[in-house]
Amino acid sequence: MVTSSAQTVATEGASLRFAGVSKDFPTPDNVEARTVALDNVSLSIAAGELVSLVGPSGCGKSTLLRLTAGLDTPNSGELYIGTEMITGPSAERGLVFQDPNLFPWLTVRHNIESGLVARGKLHEKRHEVAEFMRLVGLETFANAYPHHLSGGMAQRVALARALINHPKVLLLDEPLGALDAFTRMRMQDEVLRLWQARNTTMLLVTHDIDEAIYMSDRIVIMTPRPGRIERTIPITLERPRQRNSPEFLRLRGEILEMLHFAGAEKATA
Ligand SMILES: Nc1ncnc2c1ncn2[C@@H]1O[C@H](COP(=O)(O)OP(=O)(O)OP(=O)(O)O)[C@@H](O)[C@H]1O
Ligand SMILES: [Mg+2]
Repeated sequence: MVTSSAQTVATEGASLRFAGVSKDFPTPDNVEARTVALDNVSLSIAAGELVSLVGPSGCGKSTLLRLTAGLDTPNSGELYIGTEMITGPSAERGLVFQDPNLFPWLTVRHNIESGLVARGKLHEKRHEVAEFMRLVGLETFANAYPHHLSGGMAQRVALARALINHPKVLLLDEPLGALDAFTRMRMQDEVLRLWQARNTTMLLVTHDIDEAIYMSDRIVIMTPRPGRIERTIPITLERPRQRNSPEFLRLRGEILEMLHFAGAEKATA
């Protein structure tokens, strides 16, 4: 498994383990019924591993990320970070969404600092803000406001704001989904660079198969709702990966076929 280049960085990542996780919600407009979002999901992710979650809309990907972030609790099953059960939110598990959700009235520097303010760590850790701005290549934009930034730059601020807490796990819910194709490819390299620099464990939700193959150690394919794990595919292509290599294109074809098959199964159920 290629988790990182041979850099002398302390491992920041922690392992994750989902054991028989199920989650249902009340079904809107029907008090009798429940919508099963996740059905008995079990998965282990190694410290420093980058895993993509791929599956049809509504199959429970965001639900699984929210449970991992501790923003909601499962109906049954357990989630663990390392050996510790997840019972609520913690700065050790950062979450980045499709929308960067920056504070429009704060500069880039203050948006990144806001992660520390929320934890009462600003005084102690302020010196790290410049380091993180450099890490995401925004040091010359420290005093810019979000409306001065491109979509890709705003998303880099959101990443820096999550990373400044040194999360052991970074949960990425379609973080590049709103970007144009060109910016998206550059941002994929940015995220990979951050991953390799810090060895953070990453769980990435994406609808983009190329993105999943380009970035992941493993791709986890989920079934249509109720979300179960259909299969996991290790991606052993050497890094940096070539998007047009025959191996890449072969994997792409196979995964697209699997997803189509997963969708067809539901239609006939
Ligand atoms: N808070 C909630 N209340 C009721 N139902 C919910 C809630 N959150 C999620 N659901 C339902 O659970 C199912 C899974 O939703 P989820 O957002 O996890 O899907 P997803 O895989 O992230 O989809 P997408 O790819 O469209 O983002 C959906 O049917 C959704 O309507
Ligand atoms: Mg979602």
